Amino acid sequence: MQTAQTLANARPTSSLQFVPTGRALGVEVRGIDIRKPLDPATAAALRAAWHENLVLIVREQPMTHDEHLAFTRYFGEPEIARLYVTMSADKTIDNDKPPMFSVISNIVVDGKPIGSLGSGEAVWHTDSSLVETPPAAGLLHAVEVPPAGGSTWVLNMYAALDTLPADLRQQIEGRQILHPATHRSDGKPSKGFENVTDITKVPGTKHPIIRTHPDTGRKALYLGRRINASVVGMPIPESEYLLDALWAHATQEKFTYRHDWKVGDLLMWDNRCVMHRRDPFDPNSRRLMYRTQTKGTKPF
Ligand code: OGA
Ligand code: MN
Repeated sequence: MQTAQTLANARPTSSLQFVPTGRALGVEVRGIDIRKPLDPATAAALRAAWHENLVLIVREQPMTHDEHLAFTRYFGEPEIARLYVTMSADKTIDNDKPPMFSVISNIVVDGKPIGSLGSGEAVWHTDSSLVETPPAAGLLHAVEVPPAGGSTWVLNMYAALDTLPADLRQQIEGRQILHPATHRSDGKPSKGFENVTDITKVPGTKHPIIRTHPDTGRKALYLGRRINASVVGMPIPESEYLLDALWAHATQEKFTYRHDWKVGDLLMWDNRCVMHRRDPFDPNSRRLMYRTQTKGTKPF
């Protein structure tokens, strides 16, 4: 029987190792098989390392959907994929996966893409900032990877805020951004938003530019995505100028880590304090990734 005493003394699996990337974020998890159930102390150690390093990297552990989903649950409640809902509804993709999974792929079967994002560049973004409660974690798992290109970059938004010049910081205190629902992560407009004339009138959600992480209490810059974004209550020319300055500061290479994929890799980012982007790759090669997300809370 587990008593309070034995629980307090519980230690993570002794083979568990954390190896930092040496970059601004990201830590590699070694010495465990994440496809097997984790003891509570090991799961807690993973959560602590994730909070501290913002991104967990597990190399070359091919998993089933069930294993992927079970691992996701150690970090939160898996969410039904927005991509699954919207893209299955308008038949943009033919998705036969469980609804917790987004398929990120350029593969086309019988003339139909099996997933989203194609083979082009995915510009810097956080996932689903256009909704009231954007997802907390994103867990991206590689099933097929191209021989070159297609690397995923992540970016530390605590560091971007901490190093922000004082004049910029002062201009964004207490301000919000309107996160537009007009564009997808591949930078392409959604249906009906090809020619937006007034970006202050687009559908979307307002969130604070400086957000507080609900678990760590740390403050991070929260930009969402650049295209059609605007600072609420600011004349557009000023808003454009301010956002350009914020993006130029935030997207410096020193705040990033680049992941070059191997089959079976898992990259798990904290969507509340991390932005990500993807390099393009040869459209004639295949890339297939499955992604789960956990439910988030309203940014404050
Ligand atoms: C995502 C995403 C980038 C990639 O899954 O949200 O932006 O490298 N993916 O596939
Ligand atoms: Mn994304």
